[in-house]
Amino acid sequence: MNAEKTRKDHISNATLLQGETDPLTDRPVHLLQLDGIGKHYGNIIALRDVTMAVDNGRVTCVLGDNGAGKSTLIKIIAGLHQHDEGTLTVMGEERKFSSPRDALDAGIATVYQDLAVVPLMPIWRNFFLGSELTTGFGPFKRLDVEKMKEITKNELADMGIDLRDVEQPIGQLSGGERQCVAIARAVYFGAKVLILDEPTAALGVKQSGVVLRYILQARDRGLGVIFITHNPHHAYPVGDRFLLLKRGKSIGYHHKKDITLDELTGQMAGGAELAELAHELEAMGGHTDILAEVEKETASIGGESKAK
Ligand SMILES: Nc1ncnc2c1ncn2[C@@H]1O[C@H](COP(=O)(O)OP(=O)(O)OP(=O)(O)O)[C@@H](O)[C@H]1O
Ligand SMILES: [Mg+2]
Repeated sequence: MNAEKTRKDHISNATLLQGETDPLTDRPVHLLQLDGIGKHYGNIIALRDVTMAVDNGRVTCVLGDNGAGKSTLIKIIAGLHQHDEGTLTVMGEERKFSSPRDALDAGIATVYQDLAVVPLMPIWRNFFLGSELTTGFGPFKRLDVEKMKEITKNELADMGIDLRDVEQPIGQLSGGERQCVAIARAVYFGAKVLILDEPTAALGVKQSGVVLRYILQARDRGLGVIFITHNPHHAYPVGDRFLLLKRGKSIGYHHKKDITLDELTGQMAGGAELAELAHELEAMGGHTDILAEVEKETASIGGESKAK
């Protein structure tokens, strides 16, 4: 019991230091670590041999096209599905979550794209949904509305989110603002790892910028962020590490210092595939505007794409 506690204390201290080694296992301790993770659905291999790490105050981006396995990966980390190969380690301890509650208890919060909010309820109600504050005891117990409103207001302000009124129904907020409220909520309820599933996918340029700023806010608060996206232009400015998935397989895992935005875009799109598409469209007498776009994209990827 005592030894266990000492070990845990040691590990939670160690995770605050990037790249520290756990003397018991002689391996680097990360806030969260995936080693050779694999997942089958029947005979469909959804994920194969995926390795990545998440640390405090760092953003790990998971990039990939439709069907690449991004959602499968986060479902494993969030406790919705279980992996059947490899190991998932949280603060040096191997885990296999049996439910989302299990993952949440380990400090892993997930903000899904289709946020589970009640549109007609005020912002503060949504902020505390499922974790309402109460005041008084027994038959005199009631919701502590004032306190919840005040906390919501302060927490949002602390994250630099300026909302007119926390009494406003959350359904009146833009998609970007709703994402931001969800991020502030996870931070307030003590998440250590924050998973964001394509938070910018349905947003325009300006709104995406706002959400990216809150990703950095969460990072600066010391959370380890996992940012799922298919847009390298969103991932690159905020990311520290980039995992690229394609048809369930990792096709690259890079530290920012080892890859440029152009290279990341090239790996993502498959420069050669884009060039091929341009040829195909040309042969089909494709629309010139689309062709010009594809050619521009191909040119911006550089070297590799011109191989063919
Ligand atoms: N519950 C399931 N049962 C069977 N196959 C599944 C299941 N969930 C996902 N798959 C398959 O696993 C593969 C990876 O899917 P996944 O949803 O993880 O991809 P994704 O990267 O999130 O794609 P998208 O960008 O479209 O959301 C796909 O081939 C998909 O059809
Ligand atoms: Mg998905």
